[in-house]
Amino acid sequence: MTPTQLFRTRIAGIGSYLPEKTLTNKDLEKIVDTSDEWITERTGIRSRHVAADDQTTSDLAYVAATKALEMADVSAKDLDLIIFATVSPDQMMPSTACVLQEKLKANNCMAFDLTAACSGFIYSLAIADQFIKTGAYKNILLVGAEILTRFVNYQDRQTCILFGDGAGAVVVRRANDNEDSMIVSHHLHAEGAYGNLLSLPSSGAAMPPSHENIENNKHKVEMQGRELFKQAVRTMAGACVEAIESNKLHTDDIDWLIPHQANIRIIESVAKHAKFPMEKVIVEIENLGNTSAATIPIALDRSIRNGKIKRGQNILLAAFGGGLTSGSIYFKY
Ligand code: UT7
Repeated sequence: MTPTQLFRTRIAGIGSYLPEKTLTNKDLEKIVDTSDEWITERTGIRSRHVAADDQTTSDLAYVAATKALEMADVSAKDLDLIIFATVSPDQMMPSTACVLQEKLKANNCMAFDLTAACSGFIYSLAIADQFIKTGAYKNILLVGAEILTRFVNYQDRQTCILFGDGAGAVVVRRANDNEDSMIVSHHLHAEGAYGNLLSLPSSGAAMPPSHENIENNKHKVEMQGRELFKQAVRTMAGACVEAIESNKLHTDDIDWLIPHQANIRIIESVAKHAKFPMEKVIVEIENLGNTSAATIPIALDRSIRNGKIKRGQNILLAAFGGGLTSGSIYFKY
């Protein structure tokens, strides 16, 4: 332990939620000039979930959070902090973290949103770890949740095929002396120079929503897919190598790699560059698509609940996202 590390962080509970409605590649064939074959081959995605019209991002998060709290056996009243990672908040103000706090009646905590796009969950986990390690807080709820389908241009076949809606939540708490769970390392990065590769232009003060901006679809996601693909492989493979080297590990020491789920070809390239056999890589993209900040906690939840990930195993998370943001978390579950 480093001198500042008084306590260890344990993932105590996890939950996820996917809206009922789905949008298949066949459905998309009726909306844009694409094909099931092209999407499956180029992305690995066959279907994605879409929130119902009356569902908000905090609604999805609420279900996931409730499951995580239940698994952790932590009452919402005992939470010290809620971090809500999203780029599709209910609204800019109040924060979706505060909306969720009220829904959960988690009245004794501070709460804030975190904007790091698809890296939002690992950024949140690193921040939560700091608060636990130093002894400042005991119980923290982290959420990655998105309704990106509301910010996707369904005339742009490059982007609309990728994204889906969903939520994942994790409760972390101070580990007891007899528990050996811990977050071992986090390495986080940001490269604002690449900000233009993935953006939502008319979503803030620089370009407030106007009739003209909306007519020009400036309130929808804009993406330079091919360039982003290259940066995704570079940053996530780099993040894996950085975690392995700085912890003086070999890939054999890691039981599972959970990369951000943006495209199966990105995941396979990352595994190849970082020398991970695909059997050790968790892939949950086929029926979910890219749920941005939610992909990693959803994949983690599914892998824990289906028994793939077990207590004591060593897990590496790697993500990249708009910003660009990227990084890794290495932890013992
Ligand atoms: O969380 C981060 C979010 N975003 C990402 O991670 C995206 C990263 N990028 C990607 O996943 C891929 O670049 C895409 C899936 C977006 C595109 O795949 P690609 O293999 O890089 O295709 P491309 O952009 O090189 O385009 C190849 C062709 C083009 O046609 P021409 O110019 O060769 O005639 C595109 O117009 O494929 C065409 N195309 C499509 N065809 C059918 C692009 N999108 C589609 C589509 N259906 N949906």
